[in-house]
Amino acid sequence: MNILLIGSGGREHAFAYKLTQSKQCDKLFVMPGNAGTSQVAINVPLNPLDFALVGKFCLDNEVQLIVVGPEEPLVKGMRDYFMADDHLKRIPFIGPDEQGAQLEGSKDFSKNFMQRYQIPTAAYRTFTFENIHEGIDYVKTHSLPVVLKADGLAAGKGVLICQTNDEAVAELEAMIKNQKFGAASSKVVVEAFLNGIELSVFVLTDGKHYKILPAAKDYKRIGEGDTGLNTGGMGAVSPVPFADDVFMKKVEERIVKPTISGLVQEGINYVGFVFIGLMNVNGDPWVIEYNCRMGDPETEVVLPRIESDFVDLMLAAGTGNLNQFDLQISNQTATTVMLVSEGYPGDYAKGYAITGFEHVHDSIVFHAGTKTTDDQQTVTNGGRVLAITSMGGSIKEAVAKSFANAERIQYQGKYYRRDIGYEFT
Ligand code: AMP
Ligand code: GLY
Repeated sequence: MNILLIGSGGREHAFAYKLTQSKQCDKLFVMPGNAGTSQVAINVPLNPLDFALVGKFCLDNEVQLIVVGPEEPLVKGMRDYFMADDHLKRIPFIGPDEQGAQLEGSKDFSKNFMQRYQIPTAAYRTFTFENIHEGIDYVKTHSLPVVLKADGLAAGKGVLICQTNDEAVAELEAMIKNQKFGAASSKVVVEAFLNGIELSVFVLTDGKHYKILPAAKDYKRIGEGDTGLNTGGMGAVSPVPFADDVFMKKVEERIVKPTISGLVQEGINYVGFVFIGLMNVNGDPWVIEYNCRMGDPETEVVLPRIESDFVDLMLAAGTGNLNQFDLQISNQTATTVMLVSEGYPGDYAKGYAITGFEHVHDSIVFHAGTKTTDDQQTVTNGGRVLAITSMGGSIKEAVAKSFANAERIQYQGKYYRRDIGYEFT
């Protein structure tokens, strides 16, 4: 069958890698894709947000499965567009509708949702311009640190952890009055700080049934020892050593089950991935956030551990048959190390030639921000450039392969964290 995958990052290269491993995949189209996806699939240089154009492309190319990587098309209603068309609605579509995507698109919506279904999450209140004075009073006396979150999508930048009440007042005003994060921060969620270790749990649902995919931990800060600015993610490991059966049982009972049944009760057509960002607080899971998609770089360690046919898995989810699917997961550990551009997550240059791919062995190189030039060179084209994924019997063994191969790849301004998985090795 022909499949359309939406997106262009390391996550999408990992999806492309898994989808094309299946015998069922004839043609895989990636819209728009990157230099890595073009090695295994056909890149389609169209804008995925032009839904009419995507719909026409699907009909013209007999697409029989659609998988959406990033959140933006979902938050903007891509599924709703397809479901409203008599022809397009027949194509199994992996990604929730606009309302479901609000789990990620609006922090206020997701906090409300968690409260309605008694899902453990930090205590919170929401403020806008209308009640900013109440908000100021609230943060003046809030316990510290206090967390301020822009309600809307803010490219991963909309969360501030304030160490003093004065700082929180100033930031609340900057967010609401001065639109520090644009329209996304005209509404702000103020919540209590949770002290613990973070991890991500991924759930695939067909709207009724669900499968819990391998958990992962990503490394968000740019600097070693978890220092410096937040990034999209500098590396990841799966499984997460402390997410044992006892912990995962708590996650399933207290969080996954009420989340899926809550979505059903709300009448939300949620077919796709639920990414649950969790804090492990003394052995108990608390939800920090939901995302309506897979994580990046978590996908680069979660998908390689899935042994079942990945197209079958997507089809089972897309057709409401996940309960009949036998999900097989590898016991091996997967690690990924992200190679980034010098300057990231601030300004960085693009267009540097990348060499050394042929020297890599025993790792998979997923492309994130790369492109192929007219003269067929692979060049850097983003802050996060390549994700080097390796498998092994332990984090230590896997990550040693990722580090060795990180050295074999060259481009100007290459940087990576040499301590991915450090607290477990
Ligand atoms: P988010 O965009 O909601 O994932 O938040 C970004 C990061 O801020 C998270 O990955 C956490 O590291 C941190 N964070 C968010 N909310 C909290 C909280 N309530 N307590 C502690 N840390 C938090
Ligand atoms: N790595 C975190 C995310 O994808 O949001």
